[in-house]
Amino acid sequence: MTSTHPSLIERLHAVVGDAGLVLDAERQAAYLTDWPRKWTGRTPVVVRPNSTEETAAVMRLCHQTRTPVVPQGGNTGMTGAGIPDMDGAQIIVSMNRMNRILEVDATSNTMTVEAGVILASVQQAAADANRFFPLSLGAEGSCTIGGNLATNAGGISVLRYGNARDLALGVEVVLADGRVWDGLRALRKDNSGYDLRNLFIGSEGTLGVITRAVLKLFPAQHGRATAWVGLRSHKEAVALLSLTQSICGDRIIAFEMMSEFGMSMILRHVADTQRPLSGVHPYYVLIELADAQQELPGTLLEEALAAALEAGLADDAVLAVNDRQRQQFWKIREGVSQAQLREGHPLKHDIALPIARLVSFIDEANALIAASFPQLPVLNFGHIGDGNLHYNVLLPHGLADDERERLTAEVNLCIHDLAIAYRGSISAEHGVGRLRRDELRRYKSAVEKDLMRSIKATLDPDQLLNPGKVL
Ligand code: FAD
Ligand code: MLT
Ligand code: ZN
Repeated sequence: MTSTHPSLIERLHAVVGDAGLVLDAERQAAYLTDWPRKWTGRTPVVVRPNSTEETAAVMRLCHQTRTPVVPQGGNTGMTGAGIPDMDGAQIIVSMNRMNRILEVDATSNTMTVEAGVILASVQQAAADANRFFPLSLGAEGSCTIGGNLATNAGGISVLRYGNARDLALGVEVVLADGRVWDGLRALRKDNSGYDLRNLFIGSEGTLGVITRAVLKLFPAQHGRATAWVGLRSHKEAVALLSLTQSICGDRIIAFEMMSEFGMSMILRHVADTQRPLSGVHPYYVLIELADAQQELPGTLLEEALAAALEAGLADDAVLAVNDRQRQQFWKIREGVSQAQLREGHPLKHDIALPIARLVSFIDEANALIAASFPQLPVLNFGHIGDGNLHYNVLLPHGLADDERERLTAEVNLCIHDLAIAYRGSISAEHGVGRLRRDELRRYKSAVEKDLMRSIKATLDPDQLLNPGKVL
């Protein structure tokens, strides 16, 4: 046991038992460094409550002792929001023991889960009930539904189903003082007062600990069609989105773009990936259609691709002939996070823009980077079906710390000033965490910051929940 908080740790032990405490450094390591290996922290203890009651008791103890808490799910976040600082005073409350699926209700099209359920298990439980849970992202094998809600995660099917916020009907939350707000409602209509659910969703662990949730389910999508398309430029990608929508309507479940620079990087660093097309193209899009009916997506996608080739919007395209080929296309797309870490030090950007302004944003950003940082390659990819660009800029490995910090600050300023000038957002889906906290201060208006601080002060007056994140 650490000498920092012996009495607190003993009292926590009385609540969660041996299985609920992680004290030794070796076992703590996985909780203390984030997925991109950008932040490492220290903690006296990782606490793993096994129920809402235990979480509430843990929070009451932390409140009494004024102990700061960092909630954590699967630790796949991109903004350092789930990692404590280096002071060694913040305890981690991990939800990874609260991983039960409590109810699947196919009639109401809902699923009730504990916050620590892995996203892929939610998807599987929905499929087992002949239903569909559409939230899908590269980390789905490790991220938790609590983390998805806390970050209001986006991913690949937002253009049809919305982000995590749109997929939750109710949440249960343990507050900073240990009280429990039971908002675990399964209602599709509820105008009885302020929308507290949507306050907690997207609050990145700074307003409360989400312990359970009621999720929306959708009809199973038995028909799928997936295509990989080669294009001349990002302009054709945006035009192809409109054309595909006009032919396929809202059956489009994903519309993802990637540059050849990204593609070649993935082929270099991600095992078992091959080019889906024989030639090299400056840009690619991955299009996926889904429908309850089996044949329709393939027929519609073929029609859309024929029209695109005819109109000169696409230079080449291939439809996945089976699920194995479909998985190969997705392996390329989802390999981008891993590949960029191998290639260099990515300055990740998570811009949201009106779709109609994507092309001019990319043109202007390319010109700015080429003029000011000609040595730095741009890795441009993202969920363009919902206007979300990951316009990343790659620094080489091995730069001196001060040089890396200088370039990071200058490039971020350049990209984010431009995004704001386009009335975009500096965080479409990853959240703010630590990564964007100072920039949030720069870009949000005084009124917006004031409102956010007032909400924080009401729900967490002692600043115990995830200090140093978001605000
Ligand atoms: P963590 O990383 O553990 O925590 C994230 C934040 O949520 C922290 O602020 C933490 O304090 C808080 N939190 C976690 N659980 C709770 C809880 N129960 N109550 C209150 N607060 C909580 N994100 C996207 O949006 N779209 C993508 O396409 C996408 N792709 C990714 C691909 C890869 C390969 C990786 C590694 C990450 C990707 N992400 C993406 C980012 C990440 O997966 C998501 O942000 C995810 O929602 C985080 O879930 P988590 O359980 O890992 O949360
Ligand atoms: C993605 O779209 O792949 C994710 O948001 C993760 C990333 O940006 O690396
Ligand atoms: Zn993304």
